[in-house]
Amino acid sequence: MTQPGFELQELIAKMEQRRAYALAGGGPERAKKQHEGGKLTARERIEKLLDPGSFLEMSTLVQHARNRLMDGVESPGEGVVTGSGTIDGRQVFIFSQDFTVLGGSLGKRNAMKVTKIMDLAAKTGCPVIGLNDSAGARIQEGVDSLSGYGEIFYRNSVYSGAVPQISAILGPCAGGAVYSPAITDFVLMSRGSSYMFITGPEVIKSVTREEVTFDQLGGADVHTRKSGVAHLAYDGDEAVLAGIRKLLTYLPQNAREKPPVRDCTDPADRRNDKLLSVVTPDQRKPYPMIDVIKELVDDGDFLELQPDWAKNIIVGFAHLNGAPVGIVANNPKSMGGSLNIDASDKAARFIRTCDCYNIPILTLVDVSGFLPGVQQEHAGIIRHGAKMLYAYAEATVPKVTLIVRKSYGGAYLAMNSRDMGADVVYAWPTATVAVMGAEGAANIVYRKEIKESENPAAARAQKVAEYKETFDNPYIAAAKGYIDDVIAIEDTRRVLVQTFEMLKDKVEERPYKKHGNIPL
Ligand code: HXC
Repeated sequence: MTQPGFELQELIAKMEQRRAYALAGGGPERAKKQHEGGKLTARERIEKLLDPGSFLEMSTLVQHARNRLMDGVESPGEGVVTGSGTIDGRQVFIFSQDFTVLGGSLGKRNAMKVTKIMDLAAKTGCPVIGLNDSAGARIQEGVDSLSGYGEIFYRNSVYSGAVPQISAILGPCAGGAVYSPAITDFVLMSRGSSYMFITGPEVIKSVTREEVTFDQLGGADVHTRKSGVAHLAYDGDEAVLAGIRKLLTYLPQNAREKPPVRDCTDPADRRNDKLLSVVTPDQRKPYPMIDVIKELVDDGDFLELQPDWAKNIIVGFAHLNGAPVGIVANNPKSMGGSLNIDASDKAARFIRTCDCYNIPILTLVDVSGFLPGVQQEHAGIIRHGAKMLYAYAEATVPKVTLIVRKSYGGAYLAMNSRDMGADVVYAWPTATVAVMGAEGAANIVYRKEIKESENPAAARAQKVAEYKETFDNPYIAAAKGYIDDVIAIEDTRRVLVQTFEMLKDKVEERPYKKHGNIPL
């Protein structure tokens, strides 16, 4: 006779019951509230992100760590859905915070679910994707929830540069919770339904008396325009999830691999005659650098990161003949393309991201220098600009620099000159390389002669013209070997494709160290 409770059908029913309890999360009412707020539920997000049917869930039956304050509190699935799956056939690990369960708040066991998949991702060499929608530390669990965050931050840091980590912010992200996404490689936000801040509007009001809404304080626009915390903003969850899928097409699975090369139908030797009417030799005439980038890369497809922050520098991913490339370019349409504190931070971080994940770097130069000003000096442009120098020199991926137009002074070096480790440097015939522009140079070098001349204005104009004739071209730098070749503008795509192809197996060793000490 079978003992009661050990009948197979009963055991299966019990399993199904437990599973159904966890899968239901916070129930239909809270799911409805989630939808009314323009958000998907944690499981809907996973379904939309991963290849159909590929999700393998983990730790479904985990329950909260009991304590007196949690007596009688239900936490189906413990407020986070975790597991693995594939995106375009490539394995990823994922955690999706479930706001319908205790506001997706993070307790000890919730953190345990997250760290479990982070560890598996590191062991198997796969990206980790976090879909964040959480009210932060679970108040009832006190120090245990803080400890849970600690365990996540620790892994975010230890696995940084080992496997790509992508954070989507799809709801509230408050308190210490923002630091986990901030340590990851990429932060994507949904407009209108997500926000990130350390202390919320209430606390701010009580401390500083400032009144601010959630969105004004830490919405997607704030973090993609003002703070630079987020890389991309989208309208709605589905667009964010599509953004993650696209981002992954540029990334390898881990630091040991190269990024995936895809089929390319855009001819490698496509001529770029269009560019002849984009860039003019007149240094004072700005042009859209973004048009230059789009003309050169495969199918005009460029994923710009942080497009609305530090607009004086452009960073982002594209493909050249099917192979991913990271692009750093000055933007003459903003601040004359000069480098300031934010631009230096933005570029340095991007260069290091490319280097972590074996993505070659193309640098397009049209830079007047570092931005002069008391504010910049006092805010530490020396320290911040140094990050760019450091990041380029540190990077061992293939590095190609193309001087499009002006390249002056310290910014010549900061934009990856030959001496700073560029493998190949090209220039267009429109390029000029000098310590500074002709006007400034003539004023300094010929000050005495200009002042003592009978007609200072004419003398000055003559000296400027002389200086331009001598220095405002790429040929002195090319003659000295600082530029490897001056290339035809319309032939640029072919040259770049061939050059990156030539460099694809580059290996560059560095002396032993624990890690470098980049100025921060
Ligand atoms: C436990 C929480 C919770 C929390 C909300 N809930 N916050 N449970 N711990 N921190 C619960 C609510 O009781 C509610 O449960 C459900 O989640 C949804 O919350 P609502 O307030 O109804 O939702 P909404 O109106 O959308 O407001 C969302 C919110 C608000 C703005 C996020 O809940 C809020 O301000 N929560 C507190 C945020 C916070 O201060 N967190 C701690 C940050 S400090 P029911 O059962 O009604 O559905 C921190 C330190 C980390 O994170 C340090 C690491 C170093």
